[in-house]
Amino acid sequence: MPDTKEINEITKDKNQGDVGSRELRNELHRLQEDFHVDEKKLREISEHFQEELEEGLQDHGKNIAMYVTWVLGFPTGKEEGSFLTVDLGGTNIRVCYVSLQGSHKDIGIKQHQYKLPENIKTAEASELWTFVAESLQKFIEEQNLRGSKESPLCLGFTFSYPAIQGCIDHGVLQTWTKGFNISGVEGKDVASQLRSTISKLDLPIELIAVINDTTGAMIASAYKDPATIIGAIFGTGCNAAYMDKISNIRKLKDSKAVKNLSPDTPMAINCEYGAFDNARRVLPLTKYDKQIDEESPRPGEQAFEKMSAGLYLGEIYRLIILDLHSRGVAFKEQNIGKLRDPYCIDTAFLSKIEDDDSPDLHESAQTFRQNFDVEMTRDELRFSKHVAKVIAIRGARLCATGVAAICRKQGINKGHVAADGSVANKHPKFKKRWARALGDILGWEKGVADGEDAPIVIISAADGSGVGAAVISAMAMERESRGEKARIKER
Ligand code: GLC
Repeated sequence: MPDTKEINEITKDKNQGDVGSRELRNELHRLQEDFHVDEKKLREISEHFQEELEEGLQDHGKNIAMYVTWVLGFPTGKEEGSFLTVDLGGTNIRVCYVSLQGSHKDIGIKQHQYKLPENIKTAEASELWTFVAESLQKFIEEQNLRGSKESPLCLGFTFSYPAIQGCIDHGVLQTWTKGFNISGVEGKDVASQLRSTISKLDLPIELIAVINDTTGAMIASAYKDPATIIGAIFGTGCNAAYMDKISNIRKLKDSKAVKNLSPDTPMAINCEYGAFDNARRVLPLTKYDKQIDEESPRPGEQAFEKMSAGLYLGEIYRLIILDLHSRGVAFKEQNIGKLRDPYCIDTAFLSKIEDDDSPDLHESAQTFRQNFDVEMTRDELRFSKHVAKVIAIRGARLCATGVAAICRKQGINKGHVAADGSVANKHPKFKKRWARALGDILGWEKGVADGEDAPIVIISAADGSGVGAAVISAMAMERESRGEKARIKER
């Protein structure tokens, strides 16, 4: 059983005695109050979350979109075949060649990452798709992969942005998220844009499936682990996928696309819950959260994501430093010029500062010096460490509200949450804080969340964008070989 001090450490950073200056201590106290999400608030957020998940299943166009993905059920683990996969991430695109041997254990992967051009986030559609198609071309040449018009290489495309899917090889982007702002893609079918660029380059590739990273994480994990219940990304963005019954997806009741499917058929849902509470009814927004939103390319959108995902945690931290500097409270003598660059602090930086146990925090001092030419005083270093912790604790606790809402809605009380993303993987304390908050919301006895046998646990997702995209493509092709219609097959 953890002692009370440890519980406080997880829910709220209460120790501020080591910050010498009174002014800084007061600021820290204010931040701790503003960023603290207590158990009652967590439950309130999660309840409202559950309502928004339900609304998204009820009607189209709701705040949490609850997109149907046309992934009809979990894999058997016997799917086989070789697939090309491509994942458009924030800084890289990753191309893989995945060979599924029909036994969930044997998977062969060859892969390569290509760095996205600096300005791609604000480029035009044609530049994006040319870059993706040329990377595929390079990869198949480097790997000596052969395909032909008659027998093309099959491609699974991980496109992790909100997209409406009329079927598995189709996805109309609704709005860019995670700071992307490429013109000419919103409102368009990304599969068809990629397909036509592939055909301009005359590549022997056929696009089979468009998937979201959350669905990929869930399916890749389920391929090996039948205890998988949810796929979740705690990374640059924040989102989850789970499996629901078609009869629960009431917005599909008049849809021709499901009329031949039994109401019990499972359908993977990409929640797109980064948009939770865009009406800002329950989220405890600080002035920094409001500033991030106002200065983002899509103000008003992704309210939940902007408080909890990796892209924004470092930015919140940066805004706090700038705020204190401009009010003359701290960092007064510093040249903070380099910190004026938006989004210059990432999650790894934040966790490094928080986890620094070196004498006098000299490692943090060096990190600030090397990255930003800032010479922090000892007091400022201590303050910075506390602030890094306060932001990370709030992020992890908020992340638990979405998963808890899915579990409560589905009546799930045990299983594995297959998680991926920089926050889950690079922030060593995230999982523990997340588990505690989940336990708080779901009413687990104190201590259960810390044990090996907590009923719901986070596990590392097994390569969603590679294996997940390949398994989903294999599942779609199997459906077709049984005579079911899985794709539009537009060429
Ligand atoms: C954003 C995207 C979503 C993705 C998530 C994690 O929320 O809109 O599609 O799953 O980031 O990458």
